[in-house]
Amino acid sequence: MGPNGVGKTNLLEAVHVATQGFSPRTRTDSQVVRFGAEGARAFVSGRLGDVQMELEVTVRRGEGKRARLNGSSLRAAEQLRMTVATLVFTPDRLGVVKGAPAVRRAYFDRILGRLAPARATLPAEYGAAVAQRNAALRRAAIGAAGREAIEPWSERAATLGTELVAARLDVLDLLALPFAERAAELGLGDAALRYEGAPPTLEALEAVLDRDVERGATSLGPHLDDVVLVAGGRELRSFGSQGEQRLALLALLLAEAETIADRTGVRPLLLLDDVLSELDPERRRILAKRVRSVGQALVTATDAAMLPAEPDQLLEVTPGAVLEPSA
Ligand SMILES: Nc1ncnc2c1ncn2[C@@H]1O[C@H](COP(=O)(O)OP(=O)(O)OP(=O)(O)O)[C@@H](O)[C@H]1O
Ligand SMILES: [Mg+2]
Repeated sequence: MGPNGVGKTNLLEAVHVATQGFSPRTRTDSQVVRFGAEGARAFVSGRLGDVQMELEVTVRRGEGKRARLNGSSLRAAEQLRMTVATLVFTPDRLGVVKGAPAVRRAYFDRILGRLAPARATLPAEYGAAVAQRNAALRRAAIGAAGREAIEPWSERAATLGTELVAARLDVLDLLALPFAERAAELGLGDAALRYEGAPPTLEALEAVLDRDVERGATSLGPHLDDVVLVAGGRELRSFGSQGEQRLALLALLLAEAETIADRTGVRPLLLLDDVLSELDPERRRILAKRVRSVGQALVTATDAAMLPAEPDQLLEVTPGAVLEPSA
């Protein structure tokens, strides 16, 4: 806890960088470096199950990023995500509920990567097949190549697209129940996740070939699908109140955390930024109880009174230092 502007969000961001290898706020690594400084270092030590862990990420302006796990250098900082799962709630992430379908696809595909590492590359492989098909469509449109050159890419897009839809449906199957339960607990009744889209068949892709050649783009497949979040029969993206959208995102993150813990045995770290101020006291209590059962959590608030009845550990954030609060 700490007043506005002291660095609470910065602290959560640093923990995210150290444990996942990137900032939840920006993809521009140099933005995490303090103004006027040459570089930044985020270091976290702790226990993962019974195993002692040390994670470290350093960013130097103009040089990029380095990550170490228990002293050994990693090829890419993002590899940390294979070891530790950190889930983050910030108001920015409401895009998962109310943003464009692409935001939700990216979110669910990241969960896919976590829950089914063997299928983690599927979204990128499918995306590459679609990009190749689109390039072939455009070459055909200007007569630089024949239409027969499109077919292998249609086949590949159909095969990988069908696998991707199946993998996403598996993920939604795992999340559906915990999502509905956590949402109900937070007062959002009849919450559900609905996949909108169907596996792309080769026949379906052939059937839209004329249109696709004309547009130079593949007009069906999971790159255009969506996952619709509903509650009480209403689509939350368009018809949810701000509070309902927040609760849905929280329920989704809690469902994800539980599912990760169940399936991988790794209890995730939760970073919840500015989540309490919008919740009534009863919902804060429910959230606190859940968060405790899922894993470790860092929760920010401007006022200690907002924190759930008995915080396990209260830290006071001041500019440049985090203190045990003075009694
Ligand atoms: N790269 C940077 N270098 C130095 N200071 C920065 C950098 N990026 C942001 N800041 C500043 O850090 C300060 C703390 O920001 P932070 O968002 O962490 O505050 P906060 O405690 O989360 O506040 P709030 O309660 O309003 O959310 C802000 O004044 C911000 O301008
Ligand atoms: Mg903040």
